[in-house]
Amino acid sequence: MLSRRYLGRQYVDMKTSSLPVGFSVPYEIAAVRPLRQTTPGEREDALRAACYNTDLIPQELIYIDLSTDSGVSSLSTRQLSVLTGAACVESGMGLAAEGSRSFARLDEQVRRIFGFPFVVPTTQGRAAERIWTKINVRPGSVVAGNMLFPSTRTHIQMAGATLIDVVGDAAHDLASEEPFKGNLDAAKLRAAIAEHGAEKISCVYVELALNACGGHPVSLANLKEVRALAEAHKIPLFLDACRILENSFLIKEREAGCQERLIREIVQETCALADACTMSALKDFLVASGGLILTRDEAAYRKAAMQCFLDGGQLSGNSMELLATAIEDVFAAESYITERVRQIDHLWGRLKGAVPVVCPAGGHAVFLDLNPFLAHLGAEEFPAEALAAFIYRASGVRVTKGPPAAPSQAPRGINLLRLAIPARKYVTGHLDDVAAAVLHAYASRKGIRGLRRIENPARSKYEPAQFTQR
Ligand code: F0G
Repeated sequence: MLSRRYLGRQYVDMKTSSLPVGFSVPYEIAAVRPLRQTTPGEREDALRAACYNTDLIPQELIYIDLSTDSGVSSLSTRQLSVLTGAACVESGMGLAAEGSRSFARLDEQVRRIFGFPFVVPTTQGRAAERIWTKINVRPGSVVAGNMLFPSTRTHIQMAGATLIDVVGDAAHDLASEEPFKGNLDAAKLRAAIAEHGAEKISCVYVELALNACGGHPVSLANLKEVRALAEAHKIPLFLDACRILENSFLIKEREAGCQERLIREIVQETCALADACTMSALKDFLVASGGLILTRDEAAYRKAAMQCFLDGGQLSGNSMELLATAIEDVFAAESYITERVRQIDHLWGRLKGAVPVVCPAGGHAVFLDLNPFLAHLGAEEFPAEALAAFIYRASGVRVTKGPPAAPSQAPRGINLLRLAIPARKYVTGHLDDVAAAVLHAYASRKGIRGLRRIENPARSKYEPAQFTQR
């Protein structure tokens, strides 16, 4: 295993400089939004008004928002010029989005970078998943995956299939330094194929930079093994590639023989191993809306394009232009993704050893392990929400509970709180303030009170939960 070269030090882009100086931040701040300094009293009032659910606190009262890294990155000046330029008067979508100028530009970028011949842009990642699973997942079939994101899981189940988790056991070991905890367990996959029969398995679906267990990567070696198994049994291999950049960066850092490779080459090799990808562009590709279906199968592409039209899932011309521009920006230099992951490393490095964090550092977030963090609170006291409320009250930093644990995590009692770092949005000072808030919470942990859920039959179970303090 290769260790991170820049932990606790300044990262140096080895491709562009042999000296340990300079160019660690590949952008400057061109426009800023002033943040109001709230008082402790205001934050207490805001928490009470939000029924202790940090999701419900108005944005104006938030200092640093780590609830998600999705759709909240800063735009580049090139993206802003798209919004104010001729592209924004592009007419809307007809049946054939493929005819538009914006599609032509996006299609060209996407095919050049990811290497798939057919591209369907959608409004979001979950629209891509819904369309793709409708077409490719058969009712009564089985899908094998690695603790897939709840939206992917839901779409697979809505298509009538049963999801089998074949993630490696390392994903559940929160403290180990195992470098590729997103990997699938080939033996579990083989057993699933033997048990159900290959013809009953609609696909193997792999999430890269696996969010559920800490943003841990899937290695190329693992993908190759899974690919070989799937191919031998004629089972398609699909990727949830929304964090393919972080996954590729971590491969470059950790996988033997990859240190001198370009991120772009690793992205391309990853895609070359898959039959298709669904992808939210809101995370790695710096847009507020946009998803992609990428495939090599022309017939499936045609169905997907039509289904996208029927479902109202087509991406607007402006959004396609913004996404095409972001893809150009992101792949123009390695420094973009290097700086992104360096930020996660910085925060992780500030917390590691002092508070229980999931190890090793991932690519998009730092995850707190709540069982040792709040050992005095039982699950019925909502430790994640209670800690999020405490951190907000102390600092104005928003973290949120996020989606529920994966089915294979729940019985193990795994309980994580994610500090997701939006790309290109915060500077080191922000991250240091977050570290100070979390360290303060840990030092004060014994005084953190649990929450009680307010049961209100008039509210649906899907609405944001409301709490009182215990
Ligand atoms: N797959 C993964 C791994 C995700 O993290 C998300 C969204 C999606 C699919 C769905 O994409 O939001 O564009 O529809 N993740 C966000 C998050 C919500 O905060 O992690 P989407």
